[in-house]
Amino acid sequence: MQEDLARAGVDRFREREAKQQPTWPDADALKRATDTLETVPPLVFAGEADVLRGHLAAAGRGEAFVLQGGDCAEIFSEATADRIRNKIKTLLQMAVILTYGASTPVVKIGRMAGQYAKPRSADVETRDGVTLPTYRGDIVNSSEFTEEARVPNPQRLVDAYHVSASTLNLMRAFTTGGFADLRSVHAWNKGFAANPAYKRYDQMASEIDRAVKFMAAAGGDFDGLRTVELFSSHEALLLDYERALTRIDSRSGRPYDTSAHLLWIGERTRQLDGAHVEFLSSVHNPLAVKLGPTSGPEDVKQLAAKLNPENVEGRLTFVARMGADKVRDALPRLVETARDEGLKVTWLTDPMHGNTFTSESGYKTRKFETILDEVKGFFEVHRAAGTIPGGLHIELTGDDVTEVMGGTEEIDDAALARRYETKVDPRLNHGQSLEMAFLVSELLAKAGAEQ
Ligand code: PEP
Ligand code: CO
Repeated sequence: MQEDLARAGVDRFREREAKQQPTWPDADALKRATDTLETVPPLVFAGEADVLRGHLAAAGRGEAFVLQGGDCAEIFSEATADRIRNKIKTLLQMAVILTYGASTPVVKIGRMAGQYAKPRSADVETRDGVTLPTYRGDIVNSSEFTEEARVPNPQRLVDAYHVSASTLNLMRAFTTGGFADLRSVHAWNKGFAANPAYKRYDQMASEIDRAVKFMAAAGGDFDGLRTVELFSSHEALLLDYERALTRIDSRSGRPYDTSAHLLWIGERTRQLDGAHVEFLSSVHNPLAVKLGPTSGPEDVKQLAAKLNPENVEGRLTFVARMGADKVRDALPRLVETARDEGLKVTWLTDPMHGNTFTSESGYKTRKFETILDEVKGFFEVHRAAGTIPGGLHIELTGDDVTEVMGGTEEIDDAALARRYETKVDPRLNHGQSLEMAFLVSELLAKAGAEQ
């Protein structure tokens, strides 16, 4: 198997520079961990990744809309049934709302079951004169500020696999076991809109209610109402992990990274001659690349040539994360380049990562209204270019945290301290996520009506 993989070129990345990798202190321990991962069962199957590629292709054509969401960084100790259920519930609720506005299927992808590695701006962190390695995500080290916690520990690669497996197990159970029934998901949304604070969404919730009742009446008790597909995704940052979970698909003979259905390359590791682009070019999963405000038309052309040389629909997604103040200036030329070159790409907006700032009281935060503004900018740019806004990439949690300011709850700087839990970036809480879904759904309905 390892020889087949080598023949397939999956090790070419080792000759390239890999940014954002930890310095593992113990090479033997790393080898033991990757040897173990090379023998474990795959987390996802090639056929599932192929199905997702087809859905992403549909989103690129405007025949579906993508909702990709979850934590900035998953935490091992938070992979509990309650928290995973809340996150899935939030995604499913958002998906129903978006389906109504888009009048197309919504492709649901969790930033879940593997989102454990984080890029950081510095290798070390100093507090009160003590300098330790930075926290790079639970797959590498632990966030507490002690020597023991911060030294990169390769056993964590194996732990990440097992926690991902149990998370995926719940994702599969919750989406097929009756929990995801459209009628119950919609009933949760009705509960949300019944809260007087969210009165403004009550009308759309009632419209969805009529549509759901009509569907149930017209179609009877069909399976489509009861089960949903929920795919997994994460940033393919830690190449030791991704390589060790790569397998040759017995049907097609092609390599797939079986750690998740969709893998993405982050803004800091998308160098054309870098190890991340090289590695992901060698696997057959659908891929995404984040594009920040410094990206130019050449990035679009060259990344597409390298990652999708055969211009296959659904293989390549670009996730624009420009910042609300830049999206209207920085995105048009990228979208126009892809359009004019005939590149088959699916465009998503990540309205989170270009809109982070530190509040006066010192919390890393984002504003709900700014996030929404970037989504609006994304729609405007696509409308002007005659291209397709394919979906939304969001950092969220199903819990009632206070990390993002604004929204109907009007979380202000003072309220951030109430329940600020994230170890890395601030996430929309449950209510803010649903509110965002209602507002984006309105934008989608408006865009549809104008066509
Ligand atoms: C992220 O998605 O958490 C992230 C680090 O994003 P980006 O690569 O766009 O900065
Ligand atoms: Co983040």
